[in-house]
This record gives sequence, structure tokens and C-alpha cells, in this order.
Amino acid sequence: MNEKEQWSSRFGFILAAAGSAIGLGAIWKFPYVAGMNGGGAFLFIFLLFTLILGLPLLLAEFVIGRSTQTNAVSAYKMIAPDTKWYFLGYLGMGTSFLLLSFYSVIGGWIIYYLLKTLTGTLNDLTPEQYNVVFANAISNPFVSISAHFLFMLTTIFVVSKGVQKGIERASRFMMPILFLLFLVLIIRSLTLPDVVRGLTFLFEPDFSKLTSEAILAALGQSFFTLSIGVSAMVTYSSYVPKEESLPKAALSIVFINIVIVILAGLAIFPAVFSFGLQPDAGPVLLFQVLPNVFNHMPFGMLFFLAFLLLFLFASLTSAFSMLELQVAIVAKGDDLLRKKWSWVIGLSIFLLGIPSALSFGPLSDFFIFGKSFFDLADYLVSNMLMPIGALLISIFVPVKMKKSVLYAELQSGGGIPMYLFRVWLFILRYVAPVAIFLVLFDVLGIWDK
Ligand code: PFF
Repeated sequence: MNEKEQWSSRFGFILAAAGSAIGLGAIWKFPYVAGMNGGGAFLFIFLLFTLILGLPLLLAEFVIGRSTQTNAVSAYKMIAPDTKWYFLGYLGMGTSFLLLSFYSVIGGWIIYYLLKTLTGTLNDLTPEQYNVVFANAISNPFVSISAHFLFMLTTIFVVSKGVQKGIERASRFMMPILFLLFLVLIIRSLTLPDVVRGLTFLFEPDFSKLTSEAILAALGQSFFTLSIGVSAMVTYSSYVPKEESLPKAALSIVFINIVIVILAGLAIFPAVFSFGLQPDAGPVLLFQVLPNVFNHMPFGMLFFLAFLLLFLFASLTSAFSMLELQVAIVAKGDDLLRKKWSWVIGLSIFLLGIPSALSFGPLSDFFIFGKSFFDLADYLVSNMLMPIGALLISIFVPVKMKKSVLYAELQSGGGIPMYLFRVWLFILRYVAPVAIFLVLFDVLGIWDK
């Protein structure tokens, strides 16, 4: 998209930003991270962080983007010339570079399941057999690397063409269908034998399970699902016309996101217990659970196929925003440069993702700081770089932007009462930086010394 281009409709921006937000984070990552961190209490803290910190920060990124109408690096330069704040744009670029490298590995797993379902080989197996089929696939370097490659190739192709208009049109009907399929999935899941155990696990908070790592994971998870802290939302909102109400857009995206997270939890946890799987199985959780849920259900494989297609679509729209953010910075609105850089950056991300793809096979015993390459990349991005990015953005907005500009941005296209504007600024200036700082340092064990 060139810099002066805009979303084609008012609804277009919400769709694209929701497309960036809804992806693997809500559907794949949330269930397994909640599963590893005790369930209910994790969900509670996640919701709290999403509403108190996520929503105001999302709005902050929107305001930076729309008021400057340019890419992430230039936006900070424009607002705070002659300072080093533009570094925040590069931080976002680096973070999303690393993020996409392992995100695409999981995207590849969806592609693998899609092909398996299409060839009919995922039908009628036992839970153990499903586990074996999946474990064999992801530990096979050829399978996992080619699937990762296919996912990256699609992302590069779309971003290099700058065809956001097409994505916008597709999102318009894909998102509602995804939603409907979730309902089918949940009806099925709620009729399974161990439904009560699943729901208790998801909704009954046991705060004794909340370690400082779990609190940090919930913070990271809420930023991850909203695509906050890497300036992807700065980039997307730079294409937004002035008539659009930013607070409304932020609120709808947070709302849709929370709904999807809860739907995913409702679909997954009853099934986890009913099929004798472990909630703390880690990144493979969703992929172990899904085929069982669709199996033995009328038209099960057809529904599974549709679900995988939509899930792939949701992951791709998030991946587009990660690459778009980086390409927008280097291409600066030039279409030829956009093509070239989409390929250069995209293929480099593919290469960086290879050790992550191998983390479930040949490199599964290779640990750095006690984590596999995949887990380390994910930990660095979700639990360190995104919170740090978010922390800096929350300071940047009230410190470097004029109150009048901020107020005008929130007012244009709808408007919010003055007191909410004050609350928003207060959260950005004090609550968010202090909370993120405390959570980060708590994990480092600073307070225990
Ligand atoms: N929000 C996306 C998801 O939940 O899958 C992940 C993401 C996309 C994070 C874009 C950051 C980003 F810039």
C-alpha cells in the first residue's frame, strides 16, 4: 500500500486491525499458555490486563499512526524530531522480525493439517494415534521446514503486492464464518463427557497457581493477542481516514478479541479432559485436541477443513501486519521498493525460523537458557520485547505528544467524554509503565533479594 493510500471503507480499518489481532494468539497460544499456568486465574489476569492496559495502549498506537499518517519510524521522528524516540520503530521492526519467524512455523502446522485432511488421512484415529501422526510430522525437518516456507511465501506474496484491499474484502465474510464455526465447535465440545472439568479449569480461578512468571505470561499474552508494542497498529492506523472514531475501533477490537479467546477456551478445555490429553502440553496442545473434536461428528472432516482454512486465514492476516510494518519502514511508499523488500525481509525471516521449525525434531534437545530455540524466541518476543515496546509507547504518548493533538484525535469521528480522555492519559502516564515495570522486574526476582 503506498503511503497516501487508505482503507477502502470505514469498516475496512476495523477489519484489518481485527485481522492483525485475531490469529494464532487467541486460538493457538492462549489455550496452551493458560493450560500451563493454571487456567482460570490466568484467564482472569489476562482479561484484567487486556482491559486496563491493552485497550488504552491500542488506542495510543492508533493515535500515533493516524496523527502522523506515516510508517512506524517516521511517525516517531515526526512527533519527536531530534530525539532518539524513532528507535521505537526499529524496536518494533526487530521484534516483529523475530516474532514472524516462529509464528510462521505454527502457520505451517495448519497448512500441514489442511493437506492431511484433504487427503483424508486424518479420519477415524484414536487420540494416541493423532498424537503420533502429529509428533512425527513436526519432528520431520522436511515437513516442518516446507510448511513454514509455504506460510512465509504466501505472506511475502500478499505483502509484496500491497493488496490490503483484497484482504479487506475477504475478511468481511471470513471473520463471521470463523465465528459461526467456533459455535459449532463449542456445541460439540460442550457435549463431551468431561465438560465440567474443562469449564472448571477455564473459569474457576485458583490464585495460588499465579506465579510471577504466570503474571508476566498473562501480560505478554494480552499484548500479543492485541498486536501491541511493536507498532504494527501504528502502521495500520496510518492508513485510516479522519472520520473514523479511534476509541470505537479500539473498543470493538478488544471486544472481538476477548470473545474469540473465550470461544477458543470453551472449545478446547472440555475436549482436553474428555480425550485424556494434558492441558500443559505446550505449543502442540491445540493440534492434539482439534482432530479429536471433529472426529466422530457428523460431517466432522468437512467442518475441520473449513475450520483449518479460516484459522489459516486468521493467522495469515496477522502475519501480513507483521511483515507490512517492516516493509512500510524501508519502502517508504515506493511500490518497486515494496516488492524488493518484501522478498528480502520475508526470506530472511524464513531462514531465521528454521531453527524454530527444527525445535520439535532434530533440535529438540538443544537448549539455550533452558529453552528450545522456539520457546526462547517466543519468550523473548512475548514476555520481554513486546512488554518493553508497550512500556515505551505508553510513556511516549503523554510525554511527547501535545494534549490538544491527542484530544483532537480521540474526538474526530465520534468522540469521548473529557473524563475518559483524562483516565486514558493517566493510565498511559502512570498505571501502564508502573504495572509493566513491576511485572517485568518481578520475574527477574529483584524484589526477592
Ligand atoms: N495478534 C496476533 C495474534 O494474536 O495472533 C499476533 C501479532 C500480530 C502480534 C502482529 C504482533 C503483531 F504486530
